[in-house]
Amino acid sequence: MGRVLVTRRLPDGGLDPLAGHELIGPKANDDPYTSDELRAYAAEVDAIVSLLTDRIDGEVLAAGSGQLRVVANAAVGYDNVDVDAAAALGIVVCNTPGVLDETTADTAFLLVLAAARLASEAERDLRAGRWGGWGINQYLGRDVHDATLGIVGFGRIGRAVAARASGFGMRIVHHARHPTGIAGYVGNLDTLLAHADIVTLHVPGGAATRHLIDARRLALMKPTAVLVNTARGTVVDEVALADALHAGRIFAAGLDVFEREPEVNPRLLDAPRTVLLPHIGSASRATRTRMATMASAAAASVLAGNTPPNVVTG
Ligand code: GLV
Repeated sequence: MGRVLVTRRLPDGGLDPLAGHELIGPKANDDPYTSDELRAYAAEVDAIVSLLTDRIDGEVLAAGSGQLRVVANAAVGYDNVDVDAAAALGIVVCNTPGVLDETTADTAFLLVLAAARLASEAERDLRAGRWGGWGINQYLGRDVHDATLGIVGFGRIGRAVAARASGFGMRIVHHARHPTGIAGYVGNLDTLLAHADIVTLHVPGGAATRHLIDARRLALMKPTAVLVNTARGTVVDEVALADALHAGRIFAAGLDVFEREPEVNPRLLDAPRTVLLPHIGSASRATRTRMATMASAAAASVLAGNTPPNVVTG
């Protein structure tokens, strides 16, 4: 049996697979551990069940060298973990693929609809008493049906979004680093951006996709286009996006993720036709419980000397 640091309070039942292990954490007030605290615990535990808000960097992993066997991140994304440093130290890293695809695709579609149809702006006016009654020229959004949806990143979540989009009568194109062999594949991202009415991002975070959507690429999009990001904030250059929205160079945006969470760029806060959510992509009770259980099960599996299926290889 091992010692396991659990960095934050998890949904009920999420730690069941670790029954019998010595669990340390979370803090009584559920505050995150600081980097110093993570380093100190890493030297004393066999496993860490972490969240995407924990920075498990090379220093934390080096502190765990010789003792720490596994970091199980209760998220599908793992850009908060230095996977190369972990591999060099023989520390296994696991994530939670598969269990959150449908919930995250629902959130992407929520943002597609809300941004295209100006739902946030209209609701803000109503709540603030600024709505004077139905008007034929009010809140004129863009239709989602019959629009061309450009899906950037065509893994499990991107495909789950495509399934929803076909039900909405959209035309669907997608881009991925490698040809998918599926109808609608566009090898050149710039071409997809220039062609799509609504663009939704489903690539992993990390250095390879940092500012994939930058000022140059935003300028390729139609002035009527909508951009949705439920992937990672770093995929979009937020300054460039705020500029584009304020200047009306794209029509609208729906964002669930930000470059420096929980900070939100003030120019996005006051950008027109922009729907902002606080990183709730996978936030249903059932899905968050599945994520916690999957991460705990992976940690337990490594501690038992096995290799779980959800090991991250970089
Ligand atoms: C959420 O953003 C996740 O990566 O699971």
